[in-house]
Amino acid sequence: MKARVKPIGGFFELEIQNKDYNYHSNAIPLSNGRACLNLILKHINAQKIWIPFYTCDALLEPIINKQVSYSFYSININLEPSEDFKLKENEYFIYINYFGIKSKFIESLINKYSDKIIIDNTQAFFERENSKTWSFNSARKFFGVPDGAYLYTPYDIAVDYERNTDLSCNYLFNRLLGKQKQAYQEFIEYEKGLDDEIKKISIVSEYLLANIDYLSIAHKRRYNFSYYHSIFEEINQFNLPLATNSIPYHYPLLLKNIIDKNLLYERNIFIPILWKDTIQRRLEGFNFEQDLTQKLIALPIDHRYEIDDLDYVIESLKELLGI
Ligand SMILES: Cc1ncc(COP(=O)(O)O)c(C=O)c1O
Repeated sequence: MKARVKPIGGFFELEIQNKDYNYHSNAIPLSNGRACLNLILKHINAQKIWIPFYTCDALLEPIINKQVSYSFYSININLEPSEDFKLKENEYFIYINYFGIKSKFIESLINKYSDKIIIDNTQAFFERENSKTWSFNSARKFFGVPDGAYLYTPYDIAVDYERNTDLSCNYLFNRLLGKQKQAYQEFIEYEKGLDDEIKKISIVSEYLLANIDYLSIAHKRRYNFSYYHSIFEEINQFNLPLATNSIPYHYPLLLKNIIDKNLLYERNIFIPILWKDTIQRRLEGFNFEQDLTQKLIALPIDHRYEIDDLDYVIESLKELLGI
C-alpha cells in the first residue's frame, strides 16, 4: 500500500485556525506584490511601462527581469502624475495608491485609461476589486504575516502555481517576544531574500489572514490618521484629505525641512524612509521626489497604536521641530 501524503501522528504544527475567511475573496492570492506584477506582465504583452519615480526598486524587479522597457514619470504635490499620459499601443503605466489615500483619483484614472493602468495598492490593502483594470496589494505591509498579496484582474485568467513554502516567521515571533534588535536583523535578511517568482500565498499567511478583525483595524487606521492630522494639519506641506472610504497606510507628514530620523530612532520611533532608492538612482530631473524622500515623515498609524502612543510621537516631533 502506498504511504499517505498526510502524515499521521507525531508532533504538532503551529496551531492556527483555518477560519475559511478571505477579505479579498474575489482576487487571486499570490505570495507578494512582485509576483502579482510578474503575472500581470505575462498577460499584457507590454512594450513599455511608465513607472512613478517615487517608488522602491522592488517594483522594478519583475519589469527588469522580463526585460520590458520602462521610463519613470514624475508626480506633483498631490501625488498625482505631473502630466497626462499619451499612451501608445502596448504601453501601460503603474500608479501607486500613495498612503492609501488616492482612491478617488484612481477612479478618474481608470475612467480615462481603463486596463492600461496597473494599480499598485501595496499601500492600500483594503481596496477591493474594480474589475476594469489590474491591481495588487501586499499583506506584509499591513499585518504580521510572512507573505501574501492579492491580484485583481480585468478578465479571468488561469492560475496554477505552487504554494509558497519558502518563508520564515522568525522575525515575527521575535518581535512578538520583545527581541526587537534581533527581529529587525532577521526582518532585513528575510526581505532581502524575496523575489518575484509567481507562487500562491503560503498556508501560514492564508490562515493568519483569515483570523484578522479587518473592520476594527480599518477603523483604527482612520482614527489614528485623523488624530495626527488634527495636530499637524497646519505644518503639513501636503493637503491630502482622507476620503470617507479610504483606509490609510501612514500619516504622511511632509515637513519644510529635513530632520534627522536618528533622533527619532533614539526614542524608539522607527520612521521608514520612502524610498531610499530614489536618492540612489542617479537620474536628473526628479528633485521633487528626492526631496520628498528626505522630508517625509511617514507616521505609523496601524492597529498597534493607542492615543498615548500617538501623543508620545507628537511630543517627540514637536520637541525636535521646536514648536
Ligand atoms: C510601492 C511598492 N510596490 C510594490 C512593492 C513590492 O511588494 P512586495 O514586497 O510584496 O513584493 C513594494 C515593496 O516592496 C512597494 O513599496
